[in-house]
Amino acid sequence: MNIAIIGSGYVGLVTGACFAHLGNQVVCVDNQQSKIEKLRSGVMPIYEPGLDVLVKTNVAEGRLSFSSDIEDATRESEVVFICVGTPPKPNGEADLSAFEHVAASMAPAMRDGRYRLIVEKSTVPVRTGEWLTGLFRSHLPESASFDIASNPEFLREGSAIKDFLSTDRVVLGVNSDRAAGVLVKLYAPLNAPILMTDLNSAELIKHASNAFLAMKISFINAVAQVCERTGADISKVAKGVGLDKRIGEEFLKAGVGYGGACFPKDVSAFIAIAAQHGYDFELLKAVENINHQQRHHLADKVFAALGHDLAGKTIGVLGLAFKPNTDDMRGAPSAEIIPMFQELDATVRVYDPVAHETAKAVLDNVHYCQNPYEVAEGADCLVVLTEWAEFNSLNWPYMKTLLKRPLVVDGRNLFDPHKMRTLGFEYYSIGRPKARPSEAVTVTD
Ligand code: UDX
Repeated sequence: MNIAIIGSGYVGLVTGACFAHLGNQVVCVDNQQSKIEKLRSGVMPIYEPGLDVLVKTNVAEGRLSFSSDIEDATRESEVVFICVGTPPKPNGEADLSAFEHVAASMAPAMRDGRYRLIVEKSTVPVRTGEWLTGLFRSHLPESASFDIASNPEFLREGSAIKDFLSTDRVVLGVNSDRAAGVLVKLYAPLNAPILMTDLNSAELIKHASNAFLAMKISFINAVAQVCERTGADISKVAKGVGLDKRIGEEFLKAGVGYGGACFPKDVSAFIAIAAQHGYDFELLKAVENINHQQRHHLADKVFAALGHDLAGKTIGVLGLAFKPNTDDMRGAPSAEIIPMFQELDATVRVYDPVAHETAKAVLDNVHYCQNPYEVAEGADCLVVLTEWAEFNSLNWPYMKTLLKRPLVVDGRNLFDPHKMRTLGFEYYSIGRPKARPSEAVTVTD
């Protein structure tokens, strides 16, 4: 099929490259000319494992191209996926102005009378499809032939290609057999379960899914608080809870709370959507609050050890991106927690395997280091904020010789508390028992 993808961010690029990989003819469109130039010369504007190879292969084989012309791309395509951003407004509602712009730019090409299927891929509030239909109708003559469909994405950054090609399910919100037929044919090569719904339900599935996952994370973080007060161990509690198939083991890792481009935005958008329709979604407000508290909870562990005057103290931070295998700093816990240290006059040294460039737009006055050992040099405390795999093989005895004080506050529960204490570290993590006095080996300067 001839497909246009409007918006070449994470979702658009991955979707476009994957549809091309499945044998379709795809043009990815973006209004940033510089991004299009980069893509044409094989430079990825984002870090996503495997994406560069997938893009290069499909460009070389003539199935994938890039353009900044929405009208042209629409004219040549039978299916148009809208993948533009829907950022939150100050009140939490989604800002749909990019959608409006796209609709207005597509309209001239749709006057040729050919049928086109326009698919919302971005996360949008329920009833956006109805609104979009009206918007297109207002731009087009009666004779224009089109359907609007909703096909939410469930891609995780860092594993987006795998998530696309081996998805748990494809959700298709459609209002005609013709639209259903086009999308079923398009997704047939994935052999994935397809759930066909009306437009409103498909739109709601996306917000409900992300809100539920965020709720699981806040739930386990709340349980971690109870663990800390009772001596229970959150990793064991989560295991025991997650083994119940009705609950499932995933998204039960306690830590510094969720971040990223989706969960924070989607939870607050869902609260706003519910309010607009007369429902006070108190449960999700609690999810947000708990997530916010987790950032402070980690910082409080540092303050408990170092005090509230951090002038002359150095804090080393391992991991900046909101999660491993991405350079994305959107909603990253590091962007909230590091300023808490800086406000108390701490010097902050940081290391992330890939996120230094993106972090520079978000963090001021931090010292970027080449590796974790450089971060540790002379630091009074080491804080772990992202669970990058390479942190699992750190040489801790060597680390200890570099640190001024062997104090580690682990926001991702990466290390074995007993081993860390045996090595002579003051080690604090989330929801796991503190060392019993007899077990603790605390070294202070
Ligand atoms: C998420 C959804 O998973 C995806 O389906 C959706 O379409 C986009 O949003 P993503 O933001 O890439 O994907 O990241 P994800 O892997 O879901 O993690 C989100 C956040 O939750 C991260 O900050 C992560 O550190 C945190 N998290 C995740 C936890 O704190 N604990 C967990 O157990 C799982």
